[in-house]
Amino acid sequence: MLTTGQKLAIQRTDRSRLSETDLENIKFGRVFSDHMFVMDYANGEWGAPGIVPFGDLELSPATLVLHYGQTIFEGLKAYRSEKGGVNIFRPQANLARMTRSAERMCMPPIPEELVLDGLRELVDLDRDWIPKGGEASLYIRPFMFATDEYIGVRPSDTYRFIIFTCPVQAYYKEAVRVKIETYYSRAFPGGTGAAKCGGNYAAALYPAKLAQQDGFHQLVWTDGLEHRYIEESGTMNVFFRIGDTLVTPETGGTILEGITRDSIIDLARREGIATEVRKVEVREVLDAIAGGTLKEAFGAGTAATIAHMSSIAYDGGEYQLPAPEQFAFANRLAQLLDDIRRGRSEDPFGWNLHLP
Ligand code: COI
Repeated sequence: MLTTGQKLAIQRTDRSRLSETDLENIKFGRVFSDHMFVMDYANGEWGAPGIVPFGDLELSPATLVLHYGQTIFEGLKAYRSEKGGVNIFRPQANLARMTRSAERMCMPPIPEELVLDGLRELVDLDRDWIPKGGEASLYIRPFMFATDEYIGVRPSDTYRFIIFTCPVQAYYKEAVRVKIETYYSRAFPGGTGAAKCGGNYAAALYPAKLAQQDGFHQLVWTDGLEHRYIEESGTMNVFFRIGDTLVTPETGGTILEGITRDSIIDLARREGIATEVRKVEVREVLDAIAGGTLKEAFGAGTAATIAHMSSIAYDGGEYQLPAPEQFAFANRLAQLLDDIRRGRSEDPFGWNLHLP
């Protein structure tokens, strides 16, 4: 139900692609469900929202986003619930973060309630696209971009907001080899590190490519001033288990406020796991490796949920971590999270938006 008084027009596709799609064998981010939610911003307000068949956009070559990157996005997931129906995981948290990203990028705040209703309708309409199986879900991609036909450097006056969805399976099939980055930076104080904006990801491609050429899956980003503190891992937040304490960097403006990160912290604390959210020095992690107290290291994000690290490289050396089966904290927390999302357990934090 739309709650803002604006009516959602729904134009259904007359040619669903579902029957010709093999939902068991899909690559992340390459297969798109039948419909998308679209809404435009002009003259200081959001226009009427609609759901239309997923399809191409026609844009002027002068469209502002293509030149200066004024664009933000989100990623969240919907799951088939084992109790029946569908659970969309923490959509309100994603939309609230999107509003914060919008402010940083000089974009208009999104009407969160209206978008939430549209998102619910979209997932409901394409619910048959949610694959079955333990690793499967529907990845939901809301994004907004500047649409002025203008190549002067200033915030756009007009924007388009879209949500589309993709059926997905597991993101990583194996534990990841990572390298602690000590030259390139993802973010710096006063920058856009906490915003989910396209530029953060574009700027990370080159250093990630160099690391991949050396056989690593991902980089572990360190702070942009001294490369002394750990910040993120690839496109994810990062956690370490040192002794019996779970440690993750505090966000503080340079780190994305991950919703998976936040959920893991809440679950860990609820489980009675000592959990510290604070600055984490590279040196502390290296000392923990040397002292045998680094028992687990993992990335946490929407796409992968938890990505176990198999080794961490630093300054020419590479340090092996225990096998992923031995990551007792990571595996327990991943299971607890999954049980909530897939309706196998209670939802103590009220995270699921349930569609019957
Ligand atoms: C996530 O894991 O949430 C991400 O942001 C990854 C996405 C860029 C594919």
